[in-house]
Amino acid sequence: MTQPARTSVPSVLFVCLGNICRSPAAEGVFLAALRAEGLQDRVAVDSAGTAGYHIGSLPDRRMIAAAARRGYDLTSRARQVTHTDLDQFDLVIPMDRDNQAGLVALHSAPRARIELLGHWLRGDTWPVEVPDPWSGGPEGFEFVLDLLEAAMPGLIAEVRQLPGQTG
Ligand code: 4NP
Repeated sequence: MTQPARTSVPSVLFVCLGNICRSPAAEGVFLAALRAEGLQDRVAVDSAGTAGYHIGSLPDRRMIAAAARRGYDLTSRARQVTHTDLDQFDLVIPMDRDNQAGLVALHSAPRARIELLGHWLRGDTWPVEVPDPWSGGPEGFEFVLDLLEAAMPGLIAEVRQLPGQTG
């Protein structure tokens, strides 16, 4: 995790409910996509949850395993999103509309742009929301990863346009 306040690079925060399934996976998939583009030092990336149930926990072991099978290493520790996050990050990306509503409830006038992950899936046959896999079967974790991977080309193009990005 890289805290954006001390850096001049653009910053992206992925948000779900518990910060143990979807948003840590988004962080890991995005970090891999940034590395593949040579952008890993030019974007700060973190994830957080709207709820505090799992603060300090590693990602869910099912998510860790599913991500590892695709080559992603998930090592983040869960934390709860804060009011300050919504002023410090440039781009805050909730996984579903409930998460988005939680962010709006936390800060009525955030500096961050808040945009659903599904924004970068437009034009595809994907849903607008990344469904919560926590209480379902293994296919739900695979589907989360499918959605995240499908959003990467659009998201990489997006961060190239963020203020402070020179390449
Ligand atoms: P996430 O999944 O929001 O993708 O991290 C969940 C994890 C835990 C719970 C709900 C969703 N929970 O209720 O504890």
